[in-house]
Amino acid sequence: MTEINLTIDGVPVAVSPGTTVLEAARSAGIFIPTLCHDPELSSPGACRLCVVEIPGLRNLPASCVTTASEGMEVRTSSPAVVEARQTILELLLANHPVDCLTCHKNGNCRLADYAYRYGVREERFHGEKHAYPVEEDNSFIVRDMNKCILCGKCVRMCAEVQGNNVVDFAFRGFNTKVAPALNTGLAGPDADCVFCGNCVAVCPVGALAERDMLGKGRYWEIDRVRTTCPYCGTGCTLDLNVKDGRVIGVTSAADGDVNGRALCVKGRFGYGFIHHPDRLKTPLIKRDGRLEEATWDEALAEIAQRMGTVKAGHGADAVGVFSSARCTNEENYLMMKLARAVFGTNNVDHCARL
Ligand code: FES
Repeated sequence: MTEINLTIDGVPVAVSPGTTVLEAARSAGIFIPTLCHDPELSSPGACRLCVVEIPGLRNLPASCVTTASEGMEVRTSSPAVVEARQTILELLLANHPVDCLTCHKNGNCRLADYAYRYGVREERFHGEKHAYPVEEDNSFIVRDMNKCILCGKCVRMCAEVQGNNVVDFAFRGFNTKVAPALNTGLAGPDADCVFCGNCVAVCPVGALAERDMLGKGRYWEIDRVRTTCPYCGTGCTLDLNVKDGRVIGVTSAADGDVNGRALCVKGRFGYGFIHHPDRLKTPLIKRDGRLEEATWDEALAEIAQRMGTVKAGHGADAVGVFSSARCTNEENYLMMKLARAVFGTNNVDHCARL
């Protein structure tokens, strides 16, 4: 395939046909800020923060939706580009609450990061502010649409990755708002939200938040421990958010091997069992009608003895094993082997129905 040769900030770059200017710049390690663009989603070219200068073009095109062409010369940080980005940020901040001191996204907010990078310190435009009530109608996701910058990533994540189309742009002009059907909130009767939280995972500002994580810790105070979701055999990658030795939440990351940022409601929000006081930490053996804590050696010896008794008294097919979709393939294979080779039965099943 013939390569396209262009220069970006004087650096020669060769890319395959169809590559956008943004992708070409990133492949060369050249920074361009983005708010509405996401490599896993379609590009609407909406926020315009990724504008670049291309001599010969009348306006500053959005690099995320401009295809690289042969001989193109791109300037990513010319005075005109920087001024345009500053103005875009100032316009976004004009109707933003700018409550960064108390915002849970402090330390992980793209809007704040770019305002810092481009030296946008004061509000040049003084526009009307929204006064939406914070939506807390469900147990999982809090929506503060006063902070929404209308990048539309949550809309596209829900439609293109999750396939649920729960939210979309509603109303017009200044009143434009990302909302579920009939603007009833995510728990509304017509919303059909499955609370996967994938919208939260792509929100670049503080408009969407995991409800249980609010107030539990600042971004920089939290360790993110990469692990594998235990709920089913898919094995999604997730990050346990740990503060002071306790898991305070779950987030997902684009470099997750299996799932990227997509998780289901259980993987993202079903971590309450980790520190639950009722959680079983040792095997229990029923003695004289009461469950008593036991060691694994004691429990396995009890199981072996009782299984042997059943098999001796009633034959191998009186025994069955029931494995779990939460186990790995290897563990399920071993369970099958135990049933067939040791117990001598084909009575093997599992709980693939979660
Ligand atoms: Fe390109 Fe928003 S990132 S228009």
